[in-house]
Amino acid sequence: MKDTVLYGVGIGPGAPDLITLRALRILREVPVVFTPSKDGEDTIAGSVVEEAVGRKEFISLSFPMTGKRDTRERARRVCAERIVETLRRTHRGAFVSLGDPLFYSTFSHVLPFVKEYMPECRIEVVPGVSSMNAVSSLLCTPLAEADERIAVVPALHGTEGLKYALERFDTVVIMKLGRVLDEVLDVLCERGLTERAVFVSRAGWKDERIVRDVVSLKGTDVDYMSMIIVTRCRRR
Ligand SMILES: C[S@@+](CC[C@H](N)C(=O)[O-])C[C@H]1O[C@@H](n2cnc3c(N)ncnc32)[C@H](O)[C@@H]1O
Repeated sequence: MKDTVLYGVGIGPGAPDLITLRALRILREVPVVFTPSKDGEDTIAGSVVEEAVGRKEFISLSFPMTGKRDTRERARRVCAERIVETLRRTHRGAFVSLGDPLFYSTFSHVLPFVKEYMPECRIEVVPGVSSMNAVSSLLCTPLAEADERIAVVPALHGTEGLKYALERFDTVVIMKLGRVLDEVLDVLCERGLTERAVFVSRAGWKDERIVRDVVSLKGTDVDYMSMIIVTRCRRR
């Protein structure tokens, strides 16, 4: 029987020249590429891949950004079924993720269901340059040095995790900004950390944006592809 492989391929933060050579090779070799989309709307991942390797069969998989657990699980199962049906025909396919596929990625949401429906399928993961590495490079700011500790906090559902992290860690990377941006800024203001914070959206994209005066973002709508990095004064 022909070996079947699903590759989880990290394509980096969005600049085609930050795709690794391994990812590029696999994306060229596979007959089909699965691209995640949110609520039916295609994400940037597909266009990054197309720019890098040209047109091939793309299958867009819809992952609704809903808070309802059942709806999310149902959608993930549907996506996994679609992947498995396709792999029965093509035997090779790549699921692409922006950044790294095992770091806050939809790939890890479908993985358990693909394994359940097709246990014989081999899974291979190709790491990608994560957005927080792209952002720290853009800012030329080390994420951690020597014995410093770093925390990554998604700010989707409030600021409790952020408050905890700011008390205990030297660098705090705040991801998934959006609805709670104002609350995040309030927490940074209360702790006198606004000067230590930098906001970056769409790092590596044509419309990337860096805002050092983070307080000026108060009351504005920011892109989901944004993060704030807070670094404490370094003890040198
Ligand atoms: C679902 S997570 C995906 C993370 C991705 N797998 C990675 O390794 O970076 C989405 C979050 O990543 C961050 N992000 C992804 N790409 C970004 C970019 N180009 N610039 C700034 N932040 C980005 C944002 O915080 C966004 O809310």
